[in-house]
Amino acid sequence: MKEIKNKTVISDMKDDTENSLSETSSKEIQNTDIPKKIICENKEKRGFSALRNEIKGKIDSFVSEREKNKIIKRPSSKVKKGEVIISLKGLEKKFGKKTVLDKIDLEIRKGEKVVIIGPSGSGKSTLLRCLNLLEVPTSGIVNFEGDDLYRGKDIIKKEISSEKENLKLLKKSRADFIKQNKNIKAEEISEEISKLNLQIKEQKNKFDNVVSENKKFIRDMEKGLNLHRQKMGMVFQQFNLFPHLTVLENIIMAPVLLKTMTKEEAEKKARKYLERIGLSDKTDSYPAQLSGGQKQRIAIVRSLVNNPDVMLFDEPTSALDPEMVKEVLDFIKELSDEIPTMVIVTHEMGFAQEVGTRILFIDGGKIIEDKPPKEFFDNPENDRVKEFLSKVL
Ligand SMILES: Nc1ncnc2c1ncn2[C@@H]1O[C@H](COP(=O)(O)OP(=O)(O)O)[C@@H](O)[C@H]1O
Ligand SMILES: [Mg+2]
Repeated sequence: MKEIKNKTVISDMKDDTENSLSETSSKEIQNTDIPKKIICENKEKRGFSALRNEIKGKIDSFVSEREKNKIIKRPSSKVKKGEVIISLKGLEKKFGKKTVLDKIDLEIRKGEKVVIIGPSGSGKSTLLRCLNLLEVPTSGIVNFEGDDLYRGKDIIKKEISSEKENLKLLKKSRADFIKQNKNIKAEEISEEISKLNLQIKEQKNKFDNVVSENKKFIRDMEKGLNLHRQKMGMVFQQFNLFPHLTVLENIIMAPVLLKTMTKEEAEKKARKYLERIGLSDKTDSYPAQLSGGQKQRIAIVRSLVNNPDVMLFDEPTSALDPEMVKEVLDFIKELSDEIPTMVIVTHEMGFAQEVGTRILFIDGGKIIEDKPPKEFFDNPENDRVKEFLSKVL
């Protein structure tokens, strides 16, 4: 009987656990795929509480092991208010043959509260996920705080082949010059030849640099991502808290595992935020013991603890019962002074008007309207936008 009960508990938890440990959340918490492995290996063998203890033990041992090492100090953002903090160039994402983001160009400046709206399936979540590379684009450039996080292979190839072509042209012009002057004494053309040789040398260096920079970029792309993701906190519709960790453990896990804070520092910050949102009494609770609104506020705190420069919200209130929507929206509103730059996908039009400084409307993977809130809501130009607004307002 007991065994059957355990099995039921495991299968009940399975969906929840696997959801939370799905690719999204394991990437979000970064490099913590070990718990996922344990889940997969053991989920059939033991009860949920044994499993939880094992995972917690693993995490605790990571924590103390990592703490002995040096803490990585993240360089602070050099971007000033009003300057571009996120830049997308020709961003494209395809799933199979389907183009979900269609060559998007977008610049977001520090201090902007960008609200993204649009019909279901238009590419809003994919766009947010491409911003911090939870989803790898198919082509284009994603630049954050001046660093490229992603460069499409085609762009790299184009850049390399254009430098190669320049080198070829210079070599050809030297050969042509020699050919044209074959009857002239060598000394007389030596100055021109040295000039051409120098140009070729410089171009060869440029070509080598472009190749090695791009090689380095590809090699380091994954390495830098974890720290970048901390600077760009993301909050999901489904909260994505780890069900087998307490509220406190959920909050401190990423900074501690990534060594950006000691466990003490992270805990101190976490407790301060918990007090601020009135959930100190939930510090040692598990996500299943919280309401949806509480879970989402904890998920927001989990991002805040990393001192992000940008927060991305993907329909943060869509999974909530109506009475909990306000507490989450109020908390986001409250943060808008502390977190200068926010990108929020939402269907809450009142909130969009109140908090947004810029509204983007996406349809079919393209940004078809991009305006300040008042203009957007008072004078929409595009028929698709008019139609959408007539349904939701
Ligand atoms: N992992 C995926 N594999 C295949 N298709 C996907 C995947 N994720 C999203 N899509 C498709 O991409 C389109 C845009 O999805 P999404 O960005 O989630 O839209 P939105 O958030 O605007 O509702 C949809 O047609 C969706 O089915
Ligand atoms: Mg979505």
